[in-house]
Amino acid sequence: MQVTPLGPVLGAAIGGVDLAGPIDAATRAALRRAFADHQVISVRDQHLDAPRLLAFCQMFGTVRPNRVRPQNYHPDQPEIYVLSSDDIDVFGRNQRIAQGDYWHTDQSYNERPAIATCLYSVETPREGGDTRFIDMYGAYDILPAALRARLEGRVAEHVLIVNEPVFGIAGAPASTSPPATAPVHHPVTRVHGETGRRALYVNPGTTVRIVGMEKAESDDLLAEIFARVIVPELEYRHRWTRNEVVMWDNRCLIHAATNEVPADQRRVMYRALIEDVAQAA
Ligand code: SIN
Repeated sequence: MQVTPLGPVLGAAIGGVDLAGPIDAATRAALRRAFADHQVISVRDQHLDAPRLLAFCQMFGTVRPNRVRPQNYHPDQPEIYVLSSDDIDVFGRNQRIAQGDYWHTDQSYNERPAIATCLYSVETPREGGDTRFIDMYGAYDILPAALRARLEGRVAEHVLIVNEPVFGIAGAPASTSPPATAPVHHPVTRVHGETGRRALYVNPGTTVRIVGMEKAESDDLLAEIFARVIVPELEYRHRWTRNEVVMWDNRCLIHAATNEVPADQRRVMYRALIEDVAQAA
């Protein structure tokens, strides 16, 4: 198995593996190591159907169906969610949407968020449809010490508003639509169980507020954090090829789909979400 970094920030291309076949213990361990080291792994030219993708993802943890939009479940395999550039928003506007086209972490609105997300590209457009990632280890590391001290021991509240970000940052107005989930709390920073590194765990998609602060103070602090960390120096942007598997680590990344697929082209992805256990601060 070969592991080749995808750029200076994060990500690695994996070569020499066939994810459709049986994966031996040594390859499994090497994949897990690459995933922990690089945060995003990409494996091109894989020929998977929904059951095979599910079997691969189950090597990393438990896969459960998404909580919302059951209309997107794969018809034979509900744990696999089908993301399509033909998807229409849920607010009756009948607009084509790119689900998750704002910075977020998958399922931080759950008590047990997804530790990892796996996407498999069934159809790719000739242009557009990239996925963007921000390194949240690096984000924590670049925060000034005084700001980090203000975050120490804090928890934040997260909810889901389907297909819209809860927190407005430049270019993405805050949603005024009602949440689809009850609020849950997670530590603002977390130590990754495998790497031992501390990462920031707030995102504009689902983080409503920092608990125990006045709303204005919390809004100002979150806005300052997002302005400092959503920067090109911490970003990796993934350009997709067809039949590619990409798995990313939600414990140390935020990500955003891009809504730039031309109207005459399609992007179809199979997605699996791999579940975490509850975290201590
Ligand atoms: C997601 O936000 O989970 C999907 C990202 C993408 O479609 O690029």
